[in-house]
Amino acid sequence: MAYSVERLKTGVDGFDELIAGGIPRGFFVAVVGEPGTGKTIFCIHFAWQGILDGDKVIYVTTEESRESIIRQAAMFGMDFAGAVDRGRMIIIDALMKSRGDEWSLQELDLEEMIEKVIAAKKALGYGRARLIIDSMSAFWLDKPAMARKYSYTAKRLLYRWDFTTLAVSQYAITTGEAFGWGIEHVADGIIRFRRSIRKGVLRRYVLVEKMRQTPHDLRMHAVEIVDGKGMIVTGPVKYRREDVALPKHVMDRILRALKDADRETP
Ligand SMILES: Nc1ncnc2c1ncn2[C@@H]1O[C@H](COP(=O)(O)OP(=O)(O)OP(=O)(O)O)[C@@H](O)[C@H]1O
Ligand SMILES: [Mg+2]
Repeated sequence: MAYSVERLKTGVDGFDELIAGGIPRGFFVAVVGEPGTGKTIFCIHFAWQGILDGDKVIYVTTEESRESIIRQAAMFGMDFAGAVDRGRMIIIDALMKSRGDEWSLQELDLEEMIEKVIAAKKALGYGRARLIIDSMSAFWLDKPAMARKYSYTAKRLLYRWDFTTLAVSQYAITTGEAFGWGIEHVADGIIRFRRSIRKGVLRRYVLVEKMRQTPHDLRMHAVEIVDGKGMIVTGPVKYRREDVALPKHVMDRILRALKDADRETP
C-alpha cells in the first residue's frame, strides 16, 4: 500500500520541487543560516502561502518588530496587515515588549512563548495551521547548551495543535564549545541557507540537509531575493569549499573543541 504524505507548499518559487512538493504536515523544520541569508524572507513566503491555502498562520518574531515583518512582506506584494485584520494571522512580537498588547511577549521565555502560541491558535480557530518561530535561538541566546532541550520541549508541547512549524536558528552549530548539536536532531527537516562573496558579489544558497519521509534534492541551489517578488531558487550550483565554509569564528570554536576532546581522550 502506498502512503501519501500531505505536503504544505512553501510558496518559494523553485523550492518545493526540491522536497517532493512541500513540507509534510505536522513537521517541525529548522531553518538555519548566517545573518542576511534569507531565513526570514523564506518564512514570510511560507506564512503567505498559508494565507493563500486557507491555513491559520502564527508568526513569532524576536529579531524584528511586527511592523518590520509586515513591511518586509509588503515589499513582495503580501498583505500581512490585511490577513491579521481578517483574523487569519497573528503576529506575536517578542521585540517590542514595552508595548504590552495582547500579542506581545514580556520576556524571551520559552514557556511564555508557547502559551501565547497556543492562545493564538485558539483565537484563530480549528484547522490546519502554520507556525513560524523567527527565531528559536533567541530563547537560548545566553544558554546555548539548552538548544536541544528547548527545541525538544517546543516540538513536544506544540505537537497536538496541528502546526507545521518553521523554527529559525541563526547558526547550525548552536552549542559552540561543546561541539553539540541543538535543534538539528530534534527537527524533522533542516533547510540551511548560506552565503559567499564571489567576484565581489554577495551570493546566497540553500541546501536541504534533512527532510524526513521525503526524497529530497541533495544539491546546493542558488537563491535570489528580488524586489517586488521575493525569494526564488534559480538552480543547482557546484559545491565549492568557499561556498560552504562556516564563518571563521565558528570554525575556530569547532577546532578548539575538537582539540580539547582529543586531549581528554586517554
Ligand atoms: N525588497 C528587497 N529587494 C531585494 N532584496 C531584499 C529586499 N528586502 C530584503 N532583501 C535582502 O534580504 C536580506 C535580508 O534577508 P532576511 O531578513 O531573510 O535574512 P535573515 O537570514 O533572516 O537574517 P537575520 O539572521 O539577520 O535575521 C537583506 O539583507 C537584503 O539583501
Ligand atoms: Mg531574520
